[in-house]
Amino acid sequence: MTERHTLDFWESAPEVLHRLQSQNGGVLCTVADPAGRNNVLTLGWGQIGPFYHGHPVFSIAVTPLRYSWQFLEALAEFVIAVPDDSLQDAALLCGTKSGRDMDKFAAAGLTRVPSAHVTPPSILECPINVECRVYAQVAPPHMLLTPEHRQRPLEEQHTIYFAEVLGAYRYTA
Ligand SMILES: Cc1cc2nc3c(=O)[nH]c(=O)nc-3n(C[C@H](O)[C@H](O)[C@H](O)COP(=O)(O)O)c2cc1C
Repeated sequence: MTERHTLDFWESAPEVLHRLQSQNGGVLCTVADPAGRNNVLTLGWGQIGPFYHGHPVFSIAVTPLRYSWQFLEALAEFVIAVPDDSLQDAALLCGTKSGRDMDKFAAAGLTRVPSAHVTPPSILECPINVECRVYAQVAPPHMLLTPEHRQRPLEEQHTIYFAEVLGAYRYTA
């Protein structure tokens, strides 16, 4: 039986930003679809700030090349699960292998737990889980990408998802 502990999002924010940076391994992001499938990938491209109806905003950038992109298009929610140092191998696996080929949760030794507000699962081993609901998305072509990214074929350019933060949690077994 897992227990859910509520975190203060803004107190967790410096650690989220620290881990987001690719040289620190990135953060995990879980996604789900209406059929009950789910997946996890690693993200380095994200921003946080105020405010959407009083909720903090979390934005991410995901290219249609990722299997996870189809999930975000099908169900506009995600969980940012922030790894610690012990999960660096897991973050690398989730950032280099595709859920098209394997169950990455199992392969990386990550335990799914039900989230409080959204369908994508949270991750027991991650000390911070940030639950997010997308309120706007911007599909390419758009000016939110760097000039280098905008030179890539359109179907490879990132969609930007703007989400409201519904809560931040830690889980214990
Ligand atoms: C540190 C790191 C940061 C990454 N950041 C992003 C990102 O911000 N957006 C993105 O679309 N892919 C990013 N990736 C790549 C995906 O995580 C990777 O392609 C993954 O295998 C996709 O999994 P999927 O096909 O199961 O969705 C990153 C990978 C790593 C290792």
